[in-house]
Amino acid sequence: MDADRASRTAVLVCQGRAAADGRLAEGRFADPTAMAFLHEDERVAVQWVRDGAVPKGWTERLEYEMVRAASEVIVPRTVAIDDAVRARPVRQLVIVGAGLDDRAWRMPELAGVTAFEVDHPASQRDKRDRAAALPPPLAALRFVPVDFSHDSLATILASAGHAAHEPTTWIWEGVVPYLRRAEVAATLRAIGDLSAPGSRLVVNYQAPALRAVLGRLFVRAVSLPARGRHPWANEPVRSSWTPAAMADLLRHHGFAVRRDDDLLTLADALPIPVRQRNSLRAGRVAVADR
Ligand SMILES: C[S@@+](CC[C@H](N)C(=O)[O-])C[C@H]1O[C@@H](n2cnc3c(N)ncnc32)[C@H](O)[C@@H]1O
Repeated sequence: MDADRASRTAVLVCQGRAAADGRLAEGRFADPTAMAFLHEDERVAVQWVRDGAVPKGWTERLEYEMVRAASEVIVPRTVAIDDAVRARPVRQLVIVGAGLDDRAWRMPELAGVTAFEVDHPASQRDKRDRAAALPPPLAALRFVPVDFSHDSLATILASAGHAAHEPTTWIWEGVVPYLRRAEVAATLRAIGDLSAPGSRLVVNYQAPALRAVLGRLFVRAVSLPARGRHPWANEPVRSSWTPAAMADLLRHHGFAVRRDDDLLTLADALPIPVRQRNSLRAGRVAVADR
């Protein structure tokens, strides 16, 4: 990531959730807060998707398709992570690479829980600006700026008041692909060091998939005339993991994998259209306990 530019992939995820709210997987998914995190111009494509109004211009059409696809991929991922968080209530939650995650506002189960949102300083500044107009979060929320490429998660979290002797639920969603393998391992080492027995790590990662790589290259190529304005312009995808490699890494840091599902399997169990089969097949959510 650029040192001073907020994450654009975080905006796309938020747009996906806003587009899905009240339309996809009703009864299993709802995110009425997502829209409030978006700027006016970011809401336009969301509204196209919500209205099923396919725009004519190709730049607008590309934006529409990205938000529509994001909404269909994000719903199973969000539902799986929310379920895993609810199933093991704790008093301490750390959201690693939080972006515009709104669980602290949206999930009633988090009322009274101390939630630490860890993120790149530029993304976090942007989030705090956006959150200024929102009602107070349900969780007791602490913002913790960390750049995984340089900073020590352990030191910074400790100074923010994280209690390593108490169980923690960790959410690590949509971040692993943007980190180098060594950064993933270092972050997991810190998470392992800070996890008392009873802790749970919910990690979303990408399995190696040639079609997903080709899909991103396509978006990159067709975005060039729009001055490369696509979500991955400053956030290149840097690592993918087989489920076996991820399980090994988790085990090495003291976590036993309870389940590890691809998003396609999760999507098939929900009342949603399943069109992004390649993206869904490559995305995974692992739940691992200590
Ligand atoms: C796709 S967004 C995911 C946001 C959120 N977890 C979600 O799923 O909506 C990727 C997040 O990773 C964070 N990130 C990427 N590289 C980072 C780094 N080196 N240090 C800290 N955060 C980083 C970005 O700031 C961004 O918030």
